[in-house]
Amino acid sequence: ESTLGAAAAQSGRYFGVAIAGNRLSDSTYATIAAREFNSVTAENEMKIDATEPQRGQFNFTAADRVYNWAVQNGKEVRGHTLAWHSQQPGWMQSLSGNALRQAMIDHINGVMSHYKGKIAQWDVVNEAFADGSSGARRDSNLQRTGNDWIEVAFRAARAADPSAKLCYNDYNVENWTWAKTQAMYAMVRDFKQRGVPIDCVGFQSHFNSGSPYNANFRTTLQNFAALGVDVAVTELDIQGASPSTYAAVVNDCLAVSRCLGVTVWGVRDSDSWRAEHTPLLFNNDGSKKPAYTAVLNAL
Ligand code: XIL
Repeated sequence: ESTLGAAAAQSGRYFGVAIAGNRLSDSTYATIAAREFNSVTAENEMKIDATEPQRGQFNFTAADRVYNWAVQNGKEVRGHTLAWHSQQPGWMQSLSGNALRQAMIDHINGVMSHYKGKIAQWDVVNEAFADGSSGARRDSNLQRTGNDWIEVAFRAARAADPSAKLCYNDYNVENWTWAKTQAMYAMVRDFKQRGVPIDCVGFQSHFNSGSPYNANFRTTLQNFAALGVDVAVTELDIQGASPSTYAAVVNDCLAVSRCLGVTVWGVRDSDSWRAEHTPLLFNNDGSKKPAYTAVLNAL
């Protein structure tokens, strides 16, 4: 195959990309994105601050721009993200307790209703666990509404759009030996045992010198899949873009039948939120990097 998306499709998977809507007017960017990928995640446009800037007043202008571009170009869409401590609008940052809990539910209903039946996977909850050795939940205004906020979010999401796969998404959960990974595993196991509606786990996979790729990522993916959820690599970027590391991540996904696909977090290095890490598959001029070839050959 000659593109990442077509190569991934040979095994029933996708190869996706994070799209920044304001870059779609850059023809180099849009040409690569349209050609290479068959799944799209909005890099920022479906986040809480973008979609509900004032309480109860939803604005899907930027989100729909990315969504419509994706659909017009034949791609499926991952929704990102509904309940998160970060990129909250000011009104939400200042809420707490029952008011915040209700606002979270209302936000899930508002956004998922707009896209009902149109989203392959939703990242319902993002980044709820703390880094480090504690295995604890991350402190946040949402966490302080009560430990059950995550399952409440998933139940609301299932009711709002029964056709979307509902994912929990996090970073620093790729290494099986890490406490954060174990804490996420225990939560998913508990949700499956109690019938909390969760369908998938997203592994962001922002690999860098502080949290490098480890070959036990495949074990992690296998162990989560064995709980009865799908898995996905949702925001892949690798500091330095080692071709062999990119190939290893792809091979880890391909080794797990419940791995749905891989999404890279941007097109060219200059599009990356960590541009100084040159972590992506395309150079700033749009040419393919060695990591691109490694990924294509691995798929
Ligand atoms: C990042 C975007 O790439 C940046 O443009 C933005 O300024 C901050 O958020 N984990 C996530 C993503 O789930 O939403 C984040 O995206 C990167 C880390």
